[in-house]
Amino acid sequence: MGRQVTNVKDDPAFGEAGDARPDEGPGEGGPASDLYQREYVQSFIEKWDELINWDGRTESESGFFIDLLRSRGKTRILDAAAGTGFHSIQLRNAGFDVLSADGSPDMLKKAQENAEALGLSLDLIEADWRWLNRDVHEKFDAIVCLGNSFTHLFEEADRRKALAEFYAALKHDGMLIIDQRNYDALLKGDYGNKRKYYYCGDRATAAPEFVSEGLVKFRYEFADGAVYHLNFFPLRAAYMRRLLKEVAFEKVTTFGDFQHTYGEDEPDFLIHVAEKREPEAAGDDG
Ligand SMILES: C[S@@+](CC[C@H](N)C(=O)[O-])C[C@H]1O[C@@H](n2cnc3c(N)ncnc32)[C@H](O)[C@@H]1O
Repeated sequence: MGRQVTNVKDDPAFGEAGDARPDEGPGEGGPASDLYQREYVQSFIEKWDELINWDGRTESESGFFIDLLRSRGKTRILDAAAGTGFHSIQLRNAGFDVLSADGSPDMLKKAQENAEALGLSLDLIEADWRWLNRDVHEKFDAIVCLGNSFTHLFEEADRRKALAEFYAALKHDGMLIIDQRNYDALLKGDYGNKRKYYYCGDRATAAPEFVSEGLVKFRYEFADGAVYHLNFFPLRAAYMRRLLKEVAFEKVTTFGDFQHTYGEDEPDFLIHVAEKREPEAAGDDG
């Protein structure tokens, strides 16, 4: 279990090579929200899929996102955190019309390589969520932002800005799907690491190395001994749900490890489904 400290600047692990420096966060004392661009270095991107294990992840999700999107009649989808392309490819294969976005051009390059290896081609766009509508000029039926990605944002203003940009890029009855680690459990010292859902690979481990209210630092270790770190903001579920409501989503439903009903500390991951309109009201001003 990671250590609990009250001030990240006091933590000696904070500031290793390639990681956030304490002076990088404007105002809030944590890392800046664009730290991700330096964390996902090429060599880490090359190893990312060892961590994920695409077959294991596909099996654990059991078509959750595909079924949800289909059941609501969504067809045009923005994968806002495409990463190495796992969901973009899955959704394309299921017949959805997908635009794959990411703030990291190297991630997008890897996503296209992965798609080409499967005989597909992705539509890609480099876009940071905080300025999404500057680069993406259309409205989507649904936006997905998966793989604990949203917790790369460290400042509340950036979280609000990104959610407002997602809201604006959705059609009037659009749906946003965002997942996150169960940080409430992690902050209580409960790190499930069932290795069942996202990090299904058996050639790499992901474990929290440092945990505080303002910063969770994960350590990723690979079979060849390579070690990388990612810093995340530990989003509490109730706070995230409140933000989604305040940005004006009418309905927010939270699933735990793909189940509708769950105990607060049980799931490793939470999935928030935020709808612009209550489904029954969605056609009213169609
Ligand atoms: C943890 S990876 C997850 C990738 C993929 N969704 C998956 O589940 O495998 C997080 C991704 O979010 C992207 N990202 C982080 N912050 C971002 C931002 N502000 N705007 C756009 N992309 C961002 C990173 O470049 C990275 O590809």
